Amino acid sequence: MRTQVVIIGGGPAGLLLSQLLHRQGIETLLLERQSRDYVLARIRAGVLETGTIDLLREAGVGERMDREGLVHEGIYLATANRGFRIDFERLTAGSVMVYGQTELTLDLYQARDAMDAILLHEVEQVQIHDADTNAPYVSFIHGGREQRIDCDFIAGCDGFHGVSRKTIPASLLREFERVYPFGWLGVLSQTPPVSDELIYASHERGFALCSMRNPNLSRYYLQVPLQDSVEQWSDDAFWDELKRRIPHDAADSIVTGESIEKSIAPLRSFVAEPMRWGRLFLCGDAAHIVPPTGAKGLNLAASDVFYLWQALRQYYQDNDEQGIDNYSARALSRVWKAERFSWSMTRLLHHFPQQSSFDQRMQQADIEYLEASVAAQTSLAENYIGLPY
Ligand code: APR
Ligand code: PHB
Repeated sequence: MRTQVVIIGGGPAGLLLSQLLHRQGIETLLLERQSRDYVLARIRAGVLETGTIDLLREAGVGERMDREGLVHEGIYLATANRGFRIDFERLTAGSVMVYGQTELTLDLYQARDAMDAILLHEVEQVQIHDADTNAPYVSFIHGGREQRIDCDFIAGCDGFHGVSRKTIPASLLREFERVYPFGWLGVLSQTPPVSDELIYASHERGFALCSMRNPNLSRYYLQVPLQDSVEQWSDDAFWDELKRRIPHDAADSIVTGESIEKSIAPLRSFVAEPMRWGRLFLCGDAAHIVPPTGAKGLNLAASDVFYLWQALRQYYQDNDEQGIDNYSARALSRVWKAERFSWSMTRLLHHFPQQSSFDQRMQQADIEYLEASVAAQTSLAENYIGLPY
């Protein structure tokens, strides 16, 4: 077999890149380790930046998002029972779109099916070969058969635990990481959201976040110790703790209900440099991870995809390698700004177990300054809605 671009990984990055390249007339073949149902069952944040929204429309998958997505023109920050709003519209004339990643992935799958895309699921033992030559290829097992596909380029969209980043020689790779001393316990409930916009609450007991998927599907999070397990948290215990951490008016009005999904995720900041080795390009979580506090994971995957789509289009249409040569530096420039924002939001709002009393006073002063300063709020707003591509 042969194709122009092999895409490893069928999450948001892989599916969106394959859709954009295919619409450009560039041949792709996508290899996904899990089943389609497994991929679609993932519960992930769905706060879309302007750039992501524009790219999805460009890919021809924005119709249901525009119909069902919720436009949010601000968020609430809260501390010690006092909340204040960051008004994106007034400060930046911008907004974000709340649209669950599950829905986005479904839209991408339907668009890929409509174009008869070649998406192979339940692929095993994917291996990348000769990526540092002009004749790379990928071997894998599918349907019990060992297979090989020769290609021009390989897009490693296979997430943090994928094979792509690990293919780059350790001597050429630089990794930067911060692991946070807590996790997020997330609950999905078929209840109306407590607020029309997201509430990010800082509390001495720990961070809490009130989010949503649609007018009758809410998503809530609690900062929990790393050693906690989901089994320790009954629904009642979750709701009681959430009410302790969010402002009283929200706690008094929240509609609680049975959790239909409950999970704990660790928090990490991570970047691998470079995002290219020969004919292999890393894209999305394969190259970087952010703590979810800034809602940047999906949006960074989108900007990586934009840069790689542009670079490959330039190669195939203009026989110009400048885009692929610049891809890593261009993507990393935006990645590091989003890493900074996600780290700063995490540091601002979470209770760090070992933090000193001085650090606690710094957190309080940061939040008070944010509440009082248009300049500080504008900085947060422009990062939250997404810096330019
Ligand atoms: N071979 C084939 N597929 C693989 C392999 C492999 N060796 N390893 C991982 N995969 C698949 C995973 O099953 C997953 O479907 O690659 C896909 C990677 O998808 P994500 O982890 O979602 O990463 P990405 O597409 O970069 O999305 C970035 O979206 O998933 C959200 O918030 C999440 O930050 C993340 C963002
Ligand atoms: C979510 O809705 O899952 C969500 C929203 C905003 C975040 C993180 C997660 O910062």
